[in-house]
Amino acid sequence: MTGRRPAGVLIAASILDSDLGALGDEIRRAEAAGADRIHLDVMDGHFVPNLTFGWKTIESLRRVTALPFDAHLMISEPGRWTEQFLDAGCDSITFHVEVAAPQVGPALARIREAGRSAGLSVKPGTPLAALDAYRDLLDIVLVMTVEPGFGGQSFRGDVAKAKLAAARAWLDPGGASEVQVDGGGRAENAEVIGRGGTDVIVAGSALYRAADMAAEVERIRTLAATARADAGRA
Ligand code: DX5
Ligand code: ZN
Repeated sequence: MTGRRPAGVLIAASILDSDLGALGDEIRRAEAAGADRIHLDVMDGHFVPNLTFGWKTIESLRRVTALPFDAHLMISEPGRWTEQFLDAGCDSITFHVEVAAPQVGPALARIREAGRSAGLSVKPGTPLAALDAYRDLLDIVLVMTVEPGFGGQSFRGDVAKAKLAAARAWLDPGGASEVQVDGGGRAENAEVIGRGGTDVIVAGSALYRAADMAAEVERIRTLAATARADAGRA
């Protein structure tokens, strides 16, 4: 994922709230519905109070689709597992700036060295200033608009307003870097998200609980892209 930042707003389908017993089919369903990426939420029961899946699962899923795999690591030791997630075929790897600091810079550098996109995420209570030291190593800033750990939570509009446009302005606007929003990504929040100049919307429950996933992908993308253009941030 090198080059310029995407022109429109992209939708990354989070499989967290899908039928985990049929993950391959659930990923194909998101692809058929027009999702641009697959967002993979890895949790270790330590950084967040929940457990999901790891690099072995991602490696197996890699065969299912050619869509980019966006890994979101909610784990305490991302630096320990970087090679495994690279080998598993992740196109981008984003982890949290709140983890123990010594691993952060080296892990980001390693992800880039492998030719993938490197990202850092901030929890709702973490200021964007926590990212300052890593600016030159970042392709992605992932703004969490819920506390990480579970799908289906309420969108924190206050966090979106405080951070999305600020993150977009902080990153190189002409470069390939992108701002992603994660948590409560759904049609009713798409305008606020788009106004902030957001590049990628992670959507989990909004897609997997929709009666018509393709219509929902299109609705969220169009609402956000229109708001982004209206705000002069396209
Ligand atoms: C939460 C995860 C999200 C989650 C989003 O910790 O990082 O990716 O799946 O789910 P929704 O879209 O339902 O908020
Ligand atoms: Zn996520």
